Amino acid sequence: MARRKKIYEGKAKVLYEGPEPGTLVQYFKDDATAFNAEKKDVIDGKGVLNNRLSEFFMTGLMNIGVPTHFIKRLNMREQLVRQVEIIPLEVIVRNFAAGSISKRLGLEEGTPLPRPIVEYSYKDDALGDPLVPEEYIIAFGWASQQDLDDIVALALRVNDFMSGVMHGVGIKLVDFKIEIGRIWDNDFMRLVVADEISPDSCRLWDVETGKKLDKDVFRRDLGNLTDAYTEVARRLGVLPANSAHPKPTLIN
Ligand SMILES: Nc1ncnc2c1ncn2[C@@H]1O[C@H](COP(=O)(O)OP(=O)(O)OP(=O)(O)O)[C@@H](O)[C@H]1O
Ligand SMILES: [Mg+2]
Repeated sequence: MARRKKIYEGKAKVLYEGPEPGTLVQYFKDDATAFNAEKKDVIDGKGVLNNRLSEFFMTGLMNIGVPTHFIKRLNMREQLVRQVEIIPLEVIVRNFAAGSISKRLGLEEGTPLPRPIVEYSYKDDALGDPLVPEEYIIAFGWASQQDLDDIVALALRVNDFMSGVMHGVGIKLVDFKIEIGRIWDNDFMRLVVADEISPDSCRLWDVETGKKLDKDVFRRDLGNLTDAYTEVARRLGVLPANSAHPKPTLIN
């Protein structure tokens, strides 16, 4: 593979210059971090699974008309994406209480919320990605009111799609986070789903047993993270070609 210019190295991925202007290559690493990188480890195979799973979700979203940055998967760990201007927000959608909302409001984890709640945190590692109200977002110019209306609409479409897909394989989508980017076509700006959608950025619980199949397995030391992600991939019929866990076949 030709050497590529590294644009950015984050905690979970590396971005390289893409083959065409306006494109990037996203490389999925095996590194896992939690609690703003206070907890770190290398989890064998995580990057391969997240590359596949993110491809699966982004492709599904495109098929129902939700715009994303995804162009195509290149290999086991890399995908080609449109370069976007990332809005510096984590857009979080919650269906059931878990994590910070449970702490903040004293809600037992798993409590159904009256409706999906969309909230935002400001992407700044040094500050620990603080929760911010719309008022801040607009006042500081990170996004306009029109952008926020579009972002909520996008986030809720992603939520409906992801909840449905997961429900179909016996998994409850408790919450997730997405990042949104701007793409400019001359003076015309569009908002698209960017970054990744994977068990790193969702809370996924088995419908029957409540077993956690997401990054909480790592955050809370609940077992083997690769096994959990492999389980999600296996149920969705998405697995790397050389996976040790073959795809189950239906016998009539
Ligand atoms: N299509 C895209 N164009 C430009 N930047 C992108 C695109 N998709 C994702 N990004 C950015 O690429 C980086 C991906 O790396 P990674 O997820 O490892 O970062 P991170 O350690 O979580 O740090 P950050 O706090 O910046 O998200 C993120 O900063 C993300 O916002
Ligand atoms: Mg990230």
